Amino acid sequence: MKVIVKDNEKQVAETAYLLVKDAIIDRQYKVLGFATGSTPLALYAEIVKGFQRGELDFSDISTFNLDEYLGLPPEHPMSYRFFMESNLFGKINIKPSNIHFFDGLTDSVEAECDDYEDLIASMGGIKLQILGIGRDGHIGFNEPGTSLESRSHYVTLAKETLADNQRFFSKASDVPRWALSMGVGTIMDCQEILLLATGEKKADAVAAMIEGPISTMCTASALQNHPATTVVIDKAAASKLKRLDYWMQTADDYNEMYDYLLAARHRYGLE
Ligand code: GLP
Repeated sequence: MKVIVKDNEKQVAETAYLLVKDAIIDRQYKVLGFATGSTPLALYAEIVKGFQRGELDFSDISTFNLDEYLGLPPEHPMSYRFFMESNLFGKINIKPSNIHFFDGLTDSVEAECDDYEDLIASMGGIKLQILGIGRDGHIGFNEPGTSLESRSHYVTLAKETLADNQRFFSKASDVPRWALSMGVGTIMDCQEILLLATGEKKADAVAAMIEGPISTMCTASALQNHPATTVVIDKAAASKLKRLDYWMQTADDYNEMYDYLLAARHRYGLE
């Protein structure tokens, strides 16, 4: 896991934008995974700005979103599909047919989940998946206790998640109690992962994800075993990391390491 700690939310979004831009332009990734929640909003605003500056083109990019509430149609203002349309998809040149979401009104959650998995596989897998993290350490909607090998599935939302999400609904009883989500195993299959977290209320979850034991009690901890995960967080979210100095030391030292190696090769007559 690569951990990049920035001073504030704005810098987190700017750093994440550069990583997304590299993935799209340098590595030519065509299948991206997006997440909802308030955390990636600043990144989405940066992506929209990048698109308006002519830096990014989404005309041949396909997307999969992590999760969707059960019982809400795509045009419902609280659906994740609507969220993505308002904050990103409606503002860039992505083709509607390239946007993939769980159908929150499916007549069979099993078939819907199987089809989602098949569709991801048929497109060669997700190259870059953006993630946030819940206060209880969940990724997607994979609540504590979910198998770290799970595939797309329906989720009974935990009380903490319902309480956190209530702020978007006018009353508690309107918050859907179930959702469809990519499983932890589905997320682990993504080639690269970019997880963002900001604010002190995420500090416990971030510490458990990065330094805690790998456990179903914090599904984000599975990412410790993912070969290409970058975590970009602000100082507040990093505040409970025990090895913060080490993470900060390692985050940006790739070029420095090569300069050092090159100097050593000179010293020993190899260059
Ligand atoms: C929900 C979403 C997650 C998101 C989490 C945190 O549970 N399913 O994908 O990471 O909320 O949201 P926020 O960024 O608003 O704190």
